[in-house]
Amino acid sequence: MLRFLFLPMFFVITVKSSTSDIKAIYWLQQPLFPPSAINTSLFTHVYYAFLAPNNATYQLDIPDSTAATLATFTATLRPSVTTLVSIGGANFKADLFAAIASNAAVRASFINSTIAVARAFGFHGVDIDWEFPRSANEMKDLGQLFKELRAAIVSEASATSQKPLLLTAAVYFSVDYFLSTTTSLLYPVRSINENLDWINVMSYDLNGPWSNRTGPPAGLFDPKSNASVAYGLRSWIRGGVIPKKVVMGLPLYGRTWQLLDPSVHGIGAPAVGAGIGMDGAMALFQVLEFNNETGANVVYDEETASVYSYSGSNWVGYDDPVTVAAKVEFAQSLYLGGYFFWAAGLDTNDWKISTQALNSWMLCINERGRVN
Ligand SMILES: *[C@@H]1O[C@H](CO)[C@@H](O)[C@H](O)[C@H]1NC(C)=O
Ligand SMILES: *[C@@H]1O[C@H](CO)[C@@H](O)[C@H](O)[C@H]1NC(C)=O
Ligand SMILES: *[C@@H]1O[C@H](CO)[C@@H](O)[C@H](O)[C@H]1NC(C)=O
Ligand SMILES: *[C@@H]1O[C@H](CO)[C@@H](O)[C@H](O)[C@H]1NC(C)=O
Ligand SMILES: *[C@@H]1O[C@H](CO)[C@@H](O)[C@H](O)[C@H]1NC(C)=O
Ligand SMILES: *[C@@H]1O[C@H](CO)[C@@H](O)[C@H](O)[C@H]1NC(C)=O
Repeated sequence: MLRFLFLPMFFVITVKSSTSDIKAIYWLQQPLFPPSAINTSLFTHVYYAFLAPNNATYQLDIPDSTAATLATFTATLRPSVTTLVSIGGANFKADLFAAIASNAAVRASFINSTIAVARAFGFHGVDIDWEFPRSANEMKDLGQLFKELRAAIVSEASATSQKPLLLTAAVYFSVDYFLSTTTSLLYPVRSINENLDWINVMSYDLNGPWSNRTGPPAGLFDPKSNASVAYGLRSWIRGGVIPKKVVMGLPLYGRTWQLLDPSVHGIGAPAVGAGIGMDGAMALFQVLEFNNETGANVVYDEETASVYSYSGSNWVGYDDPVTVAAKVEFAQSLYLGGYFFWAAGLDTNDWKISTQALNSWMLCINERGRVN
């Protein structure tokens, strides 16, 4: 594992992106970080997050203010990157997706509206972010939704002589969605392979202040549990998804805990709840400010290939350029399709983490002599 910590850092690249690999980021509608602030030379795809279907008509609701934001988003970014609109998200009711996906007429109406909105605002693709299907039937319905979306996309493209929209989905960190410690559900792998361009695997939030012990929020490894990026990504491959269709998620935020006893501050230390930051989360640039302002101790944990810092009773688990480089190397060792970040506005001002991910990705390609 040590070798991950000795990757050449800040390798300078001269080519932008000579490959078709995916280097994506989600942009959450927020006035503080306009789309124009995104450094598009670091990304191939930018996702608009999120639109939500109306709970009575099951079509996408676009109030005037949202329409203006959507139009600005694509007008700003479309010249330099591929844009996708993401539907759903963590705060969107899973019940509503279940209602849409379980009924053929409702699926058709939802699909029609989704394609119409994507085209009306000049997006290149759509993304389904259902967090999460909760039964075998809902997983089956999800597979059916993908299939019908793909069919509609193909026929719309041919009817209008346009390039087909891209179709992606954001999914759980592992192919089996854990309902509890004993039961899990399998994603519709066959439908994913046949109908999606790729999946965005949410390889984060694996530990958080909802647990009373500190842990890496997105550790590459975990010798003591399966809550690791490596386990999750391997599970998708083992589950049968084409590796090129698997895209690794990277969080641009840390998770914070309040330690029970400031003198017990390792991984697995007892904690009494969320630490500083909103709901126990902090943007990476805020973590660095916290480290600087408090003179926090910063620790690399080799076992999990993660980094954490602590000061007094505050504990923060996060990613930095070293851990991101390790993850990118790991993703390449599995021949994955690329990576994506959650979310724009959380990196440092000068995009340290996003830049490191891009440089590491290109470096690995050069070293492996891969032709894309
Ligand atoms: C955007 O990123 C590129 C590639 O790392 C860098 O050369 C450029 O200076 C950055 N631009 C801004 C405005 O940060
Ligand atoms: C449907 O949406 C409306 C408006 O947002 C809301 O007031 C209502 O509670 C929702 N109904 C259900 C069943 O979620
Ligand atoms: C959506 O439905 C309308 C009305 O039936 C139809 O004119 C339109 O072509 C459909 N759009 C798509 C993308 O299927
Ligand atoms: C932490 O939670 C576990 C299970 O939820 C519980 O058994 C344990 O007593 C808790 N520990 C502390 C220190 O609160
Ligand atoms: C991890 O998952 C595997 C199955 O993929 C299982 O056999 C093993 O018991 C799990 N390990 C832990 C620590 O939960
Ligand atoms: C750290 O904080 C000091 C003053 O508190 C400031 O001058 C310096 O720029 C900060 N460094 C970084 C890297 O944020």
